[in-house]
Amino acid sequence: MKLIDGKQVAVEIKKELAAKSVALIDKGERAPHLAAILVGEDPASLSYINGKERACREVGITSTIYRLEESTSEKKLLEIIDFLNKDEEVDGFIVQIPLPAHISVDRVIAAIDPSKDVDGFHPVNLGKMMLGKPSFLPATPYGILQLLERYKIETEGKHCVVLGRSNIVGTPISIMLSRKSSPGNCTVTLCHTKTVNLKEISASADILIAAMGQPGSVTADMVKDGAVVVDVGIHRIVDDSPKGYHIIGDVKFDEVAPKCSYITPVPGGVGVMTVISLLMNTMKAYEENAKR
Ligand code: GUN
Repeated sequence: MKLIDGKQVAVEIKKELAAKSVALIDKGERAPHLAAILVGEDPASLSYINGKERACREVGITSTIYRLEESTSEKKLLEIIDFLNKDEEVDGFIVQIPLPAHISVDRVIAAIDPSKDVDGFHPVNLGKMMLGKPSFLPATPYGILQLLERYKIETEGKHCVVLGRSNIVGTPISIMLSRKSSPGNCTVTLCHTKTVNLKEISASADILIAAMGQPGSVTADMVKDGAVVVDVGIHRIVDDSPKGYHIIGDVKFDEVAPKCSYITPVPGGVGVMTVISLLMNTMKAYEENAKR
């Protein structure tokens, strides 16, 4: 069994991005610029946003955070999005999800200029992705592709089972891995809450992607010997440690890992790659912006 070390891949990609930023500054250009909008004080969102800000600093990408109160109206948020759409010094931006209940996520995402949608959530980018055209790929699935590619894991002709059909992970990764591309060319089965025979389907996977958001729900009997297991779950479990919690994934790591050829740990696997994808998309947005 080999661990897929997201932290190590993240370090490699950050070095590549930092070298690009340095080359731009040396040429007298401005640094790429990522903005993020956070509405409210959701603790997980705050921690994501802080992580994004830190990662930007490490690779020489300018970052601006708009912290808005929970009570901010949808109209006000749409005005800020319009402002960022027009700001030529901002290459890409994201609106952190979840949003307060009085704001429509769909309307907010649709208001983002697709050329600045570095989260790859806009219907135009999702449509281009489905058609195999160049687009911003959603961060977590893009991170998974990076891990598969950098570990030279063969995907062509493999049976990939995706557990979970969320808009930001399960559905897009199922499309991305079924495309005529590398990584890709998988035969994909997308499982969800209404799937019958989940255990049998899961146990037939060469590549198993666990993204159902249920802590420790993938057990050893659901995994084929020699499978590649990618764990997308991130769950805080309260405990008596000094920190007060530990993090686990959707996979019962201790019993599943011995059966795998490769497995991503939690933490230190897919999670670290999400922010890296965002940085890669921001660099791409900058390069596209510079061509205009
Ligand atoms: N909330 C959880 N993950 C994400 C993400 O990748 N992007 C945004 N905007 N919000 C999130």
